[in-house]
Amino acid sequence: MRAAPRLHWSIMKQHKIAIMGFGTVGGGTYDILTQNRDYIKRTQGMDVVVARILDRSDAPLVARGIDKSLFCGDVDALAADPEIELAVETMGGVEPAKTFITKMLRAGKSVVTANKELLAKHMHELAPIAEQNGCGLYFEASCVGGVPIIRALNESVQGDKIVSLYGIINGTTNYILSKMTDEGCDYATALAEAQALGFAEADPTSDVEGFDAAYKLSILGSMAFRTCVPYGSILREGITKVTAGDIANARELGYTVKLVAVGKRDGNNIEARVHPAFVPNDHPLAAVSGAFNAVYLRGDFVGDLMFYGAGAGAHPTGSAIVSDIVKALSGAAGYGGFAGDSLEKGISLVGDFVSGYYICVTVADKTGVLSKISNILGDNGVSIKAAVQRSSASGTATVVFLTHRAHEHSVMQALGSIAKLASVERIDSMLRVL
Ligand code: NDP
Ligand code: HSE
Repeated sequence: MRAAPRLHWSIMKQHKIAIMGFGTVGGGTYDILTQNRDYIKRTQGMDVVVARILDRSDAPLVARGIDKSLFCGDVDALAADPEIELAVETMGGVEPAKTFITKMLRAGKSVVTANKELLAKHMHELAPIAEQNGCGLYFEASCVGGVPIIRALNESVQGDKIVSLYGIINGTTNYILSKMTDEGCDYATALAEAQALGFAEADPTSDVEGFDAAYKLSILGSMAFRTCVPYGSILREGITKVTAGDIANARELGYTVKLVAVGKRDGNNIEARVHPAFVPNDHPLAAVSGAFNAVYLRGDFVGDLMFYGAGAGAHPTGSAIVSDIVKALSGAAGYGGFAGDSLEKGISLVGDFVSGYYICVTVADKTGVLSKISNILGDNGVSIKAAVQRSSASGTATVVFLTHRAHEHSVMQALGSIAKLASVERIDSMLRVL
């Protein structure tokens, strides 16, 4: 085998790159490229220099004490600059990021992006532009922060049919739920902390309502199942309705509440969903805490694989971006797996699925109420695994049910009927059980 060429520093090629969007992740990428520049030279044989930084103004450069001459406010000038080989996009959102990336690709510059929203919604348009212009689109940083999951799905397990993917793939919500569970912190305080730590999206609705995790599941599911898992077909629920009571009930019953992403393949049927769930405490995902993320894959031959690490933050995400920069500048192709001809055909995305359920109901504390609810569940084919009733001084009682595995549609139908019972004050919560 031929040894990799060892270039002397004085003749080592300098690769000039641009960063578009100099916030949390753009700044983290800059830190790694500048602080580890010599290390990257020694170990990768390439000298990567951040030569241009695009943002709304030069304020983020000034704040970091970076020479203002690196600032560029004009994307067309950047695209036309022959010295710039590659652009990193860390602005976020769909526009103008999509237009900016398109301009770079059309100018023959490869793009490294962390923008899962853009990829989930427009990958099918961007991939052909990259291909037509002989450059690559690299997006390791778009999913699960610093964890090399895109690479694993793209460059490993090619011989396996992935049958299931379970993940905690949003750092902000996992941070919030961990704080609420472990420290009794309230939701608003935990969210403010996640924002201050740079984990949250510019609009944190994307995190807490499950959009961000759904974008990532669309990308990961498409790559894992070698077919397109459209973002719009994913069942999505966020964590905003999870209460301190749900978290306490979960603890009492031996579970931890997590926002999970689930992708499963059964023959030609795929289910894809993002929602909060009761995760059994002995499941590996229950121990994934704070802004950490994990993806648990099962392949038909490899068996179980678990990927774990920092799911958000400037430096973990910057690390994924730098790995893609090195990959791109080495001449390696971008990632496939979204819209190519080789993808699996004839796959259907199914809306109904089977799961266990946690249901919490406030009822009038009278005889016969419990049996009416049990009857409705039974009539819909939902069998009860455990029930706990707690009476209150106000004449109401809270009833918590855990069900055996049942069809989602049956549970929804049963809940509709239960809500209509005169003795039922309200359905407090319904969460799926992993
Ligand atoms: P930030 O808001 O911290 O940074 C984005 C930067 O881009 C800001 O400086 C912003 O300026 C600038 N920007 C936005 N729009 C424009 C525009 N039209 N023209 C010029 N500059 C613009 O976001 P993050 O760094 O947190 O996230 C960036 C991307 O990385 C997003 O796609 C996000 O989903 C993704 N990501 C984030 C992770 C994280 O941990 N934060 C982890 C993994 C991925 P201004 O502030 O003035 O709007
Ligand atoms: N807002 C995202 C999260 C950033 O919290 O996971 C990482 O993609």
